[in-house]
Parts: sequence; C-alpha cells; structure tokens
Amino acid sequence: MAEDLSIIKGTKESQYESLLPQIKALITGEPDLIANLANIAGALKEQFGWLWVGFYLVKQDELVLGPFQGPVACTRIRKGRGVCGASWAEAQTLIVPDVEAFPGHIACSSLSRSEIVIPLLQNGVVTGVLDVDSVALNEFDETDKRYLEEIVSWI
Ligand code: SME
Repeated sequence: MAEDLSIIKGTKESQYESLLPQIKALITGEPDLIANLANIAGALKEQFGWLWVGFYLVKQDELVLGPFQGPVACTRIRKGRGVCGASWAEAQTLIVPDVEAFPGHIACSSLSRSEIVIPLLQNGVVTGVLDVDSVALNEFDETDKRYLEEIVSWI
C-alpha cells in the first residue's frame, strides 16, 4: 500500500476507526518488530498530534527506549518506576489523568500533563510498553485504552 496516511477529523472513536485498518495494513506481512513499532508510533502521532508516542522494550531487568515520535526521552526505566515501570510490574494499562498526581511519575518532558501506558503482552509476559503523553490534562479514557490495547495485540 501507499505509505500516505489518511488523517481525518471527528470524534475520538471515528479517528481510531479510520486509523486502525491503516495501521493493520502497514504492519501486516512485515515481520520486523522495530519497523512495525516505528510505523505505529508515527501513525498515532500523525492522527492525534499527541506530545509523545513511543515504545519501551524489556531488556534484561529494565525498559529500554524503542521507536518513538516526539521530544527526546529517558532511555532506561526500572520495573515499578514511573507510569511505564508500574504498567510493566502490574501487567495492565494505566491511565493517568494528571501526571503530577501520580507518585513517582518520571517527567521526560515538562510539557506532559496526562499519560496512558499499555503493556505489550506475549503469552502473559510483558515484553514492552506503549507510552502516550499529552500536553492536556485528562486526555485519555476507556476509549483510548480499548483501541490502543487492540493495536498492541497485533504486535
Ligand atoms: N512519564 C513516563 C516516562 C516516559 S516518558 O513520558 C516518554 C513514566 O512515568 O514512566
């Protein structure tokens, strides 16, 4: 397929409904993990314009920065630390409406106000996380959780 993304306006649901098949087409048939993570981060950033969209991958006993779109970020996060490390430790999606109210939040960018982190699961084991940051408070909800969990289930 062409590598141009069709970007639409509208409700959050309609934006995800338009984007998901395009992401699926981008990664279908491509076995390279880094290539697919890079395109997923690029597609989400292009459609939604969030501050930061990217992946951390579990390597030994740490999360290590992977493909992302946005400002430069911290490279290593230990299990249980910050929102990403907590999502890894708990193996579940975490929605943080106000990062300043999250104990231990790691501020990679002072512009970040809210965040969602979705774990990547392979046979019940966390192999990484998708982290999304917004400059707006209370940006993420159950709709983001549902669609972003679906996207990471394809990885
Ligand atoms: N805020 C994250 C760290 C990663 S950056 O936001 C890209 C956290 O608390 O885990």
